[in-house]
Amino acid sequence: MNDRFLRACRREPVDRTPVWIMRQAGRYLPEYRDIRSRVGFLTLCRTPELAAEVTLQPLRRFALDAAILFADIMTPLDAFDIAMTFDPGPKIATPIRTREAVDRLHARPAAEAVPYVAETLRRLRRELDGRTPLIGFCGAPFTIAAYLVQGEGKDGFGALKRLLFEQPATVQVLLEKLSEAMADYVRMQIDAGAQAIQIFDSWAGILDPSDYRRYAMPAVAHIIDAVKERGVPAIYFLNGAPHLLELGASTCPDVLGVCWRTPLDDVARRVGPRIALQGNLDPHVLFGTPKMIRERVADVLQRVEGRPGHVMNLGHGILPETPIASVEALIDAVHDCSRVPATRTS
Ligand code: CP3
Repeated sequence: MNDRFLRACRREPVDRTPVWIMRQAGRYLPEYRDIRSRVGFLTLCRTPELAAEVTLQPLRRFALDAAILFADIMTPLDAFDIAMTFDPGPKIATPIRTREAVDRLHARPAAEAVPYVAETLRRLRRELDGRTPLIGFCGAPFTIAAYLVQGEGKDGFGALKRLLFEQPATVQVLLEKLSEAMADYVRMQIDAGAQAIQIFDSWAGILDPSDYRRYAMPAVAHIIDAVKERGVPAIYFLNGAPHLLELGASTCPDVLGVCWRTPLDDVARRVGPRIALQGNLDPHVLFGTPKMIRERVADVLQRVEGRPGHVMNLGHGILPETPIASVEALIDAVHDCSRVPATRTS
């Protein structure tokens, strides 16, 4: 049983640094593109047999230390019956921009609205059979709200920032509803077999520290508490937010997921020793030579050497054009550069 990922989340000793890759199932894999040429993205997410299959695809190729559920951060919005398509990112048919629209949102229980996610996790736990730990995930309320209010992905998410000042109470209620729904969703995932939960906050970085503290932080802290109450590690990935790392750490996740912008030794100094760190190789490094990849991996590892609790990962999702050989080089480099003598782990 490979538990070095779960051990690192808890800052326990490990034989070598565990590694997984954000978006490890996806378009850079020909076998994923093959399935996607036959079924749409939403069908893929909603069909447990297929979702479990694409979750396992990267594990067949690479010696990864964790599997991550295949779904999307927008998947649990089926609980609110919000009409949505993917092209390739989420598109909301009717963006939510008024108090009336927010008041109309009523979440059904996740177990009723998205039973296929629980079924995918149960299937995966059976197939993984203890060999590799399974990560569940959700989006942070602020990041989900950014898509719901804007209607689609857009740098800066001006529509949500504008609403935040025009109608702060409307945004507050929206974030509370999303926070409750995500807490229910992650509880369902844990009950179905998820052994850790990662919360993706891709867009909190558009806020300044005081607005982050007022709006985004309480909504995400509630989900982290729900995960920890169930006794599994919570990973909080804060993208593009070097100015929010201390506040993010103060929500007390077991692991802080760090984007590629801030060197991990800086982060370690700023957040103290009582939290594990995950990351944070720039995904673009994987367009370099194997030698460059190895040097950059060694650099990341060296910045947290001797500090308990590091999970190696990219500093954001892997890009669709990434060469497969680069992923192999990354994994090999982590294996070669992070092994510690057995005596030190016993
Ligand atoms: O990590 C994994 O392998 C698990 C699956 C996963 C997906 N999306 C599948 C997906 C996870 C964890 C996500 C998270 C997600 N989704 C985030 C947070 C991480 C981040 O990137 O910041 C966000 C913001 C989304 C919303 C989303 N979904 C976008 C912006 C896009 C399109 C952009 C892109 O990467 O092309 C999606 C679609 C999506 N989600 C795809 C996959 C594999 C591509 C869909 C396809 O096959 O056409």
